[in-house]
Amino acid sequence: VGLLGFGIDIGGSGIKGAVVDLDGGVLASERYKILTPQPSTADAVSASVAEVVGHFGWQGTLGCTFPAVVQNGVARTAANVDQSWIGTDIEAVVGDATGLAVTAVNDADAAGLAETLWGAAKGTDGLVVVVTLGTGIGTALIYNGLLVPNSELGHIELDGEDYETRASAAARDREGLSWEKWARRLQRYFSALEFYLRPNLFVVGGGVSRRAEKFLPLLTLATPIVTAKLQNEAGIAGAAYLSSELALTEPAPPSVPASP
Ligand code: BGC
Repeated sequence: VGLLGFGIDIGGSGIKGAVVDLDGGVLASERYKILTPQPSTADAVSASVAEVVGHFGWQGTLGCTFPAVVQNGVARTAANVDQSWIGTDIEAVVGDATGLAVTAVNDADAAGLAETLWGAAKGTDGLVVVVTLGTGIGTALIYNGLLVPNSELGHIELDGEDYETRASAAARDREGLSWEKWARRLQRYFSALEFYLRPNLFVVGGGVSRRAEKFLPLLTLATPIVTAKLQNEAGIAGAAYLSSELALTEPAPPSVPASP
């Protein structure tokens, strides 16, 4: 076990945390999860984060994902959490509740960073687009190993709709879509991303990526598309990394070798 960090993943339905081995981006403890309080206000969620941290007795710095735009530690949107978060300094409120130094980051960005450091995007030159399919659609853009934060491409409008409401994993559940029907929407979505961004690689994460064999083979794209390697743990690992001294001493992730 190398240097340890601690990550918390705040989601619309659950708040989970674990100790992370930052050498390999793997969990160094079991994952502890509690349900997100409803309404998911800043005070209630911060208290839940403190409960998860307390479960482990963690004393170091804390990395925290948030399911919305996070700019300099402040929530700027709140698609799937209580609207009162908008304008809230996440690092300050969670810091007060836990007594720890907190780094807050968008959930998809944390996952994308983890996939770049340790997972499916490791060593990939050029542009990688990481897409997490969950309650919403989260996206992370990584260019030559460097994260471009807060891309929010889950909300691109296609056919007159905010497309996260059509193609997220939650939309599949809500509408009881077959894999084939859902894959048609994913096709529309990934084709649009491909057209606008021409990435070198798509990485698909979120809980449903465990069942990638049900839908990835149904997609026809010019861009290679692979399943996230760290899957549901990517956010925790990426956030833990960002809060650690590693991120402070190397602001950019380790440089990515150019492809031959
Ligand atoms: C939010 C993103 C978030 C994604 C996944 C979207 O609704 O706007 O910020 O990354 O959901 O949670």
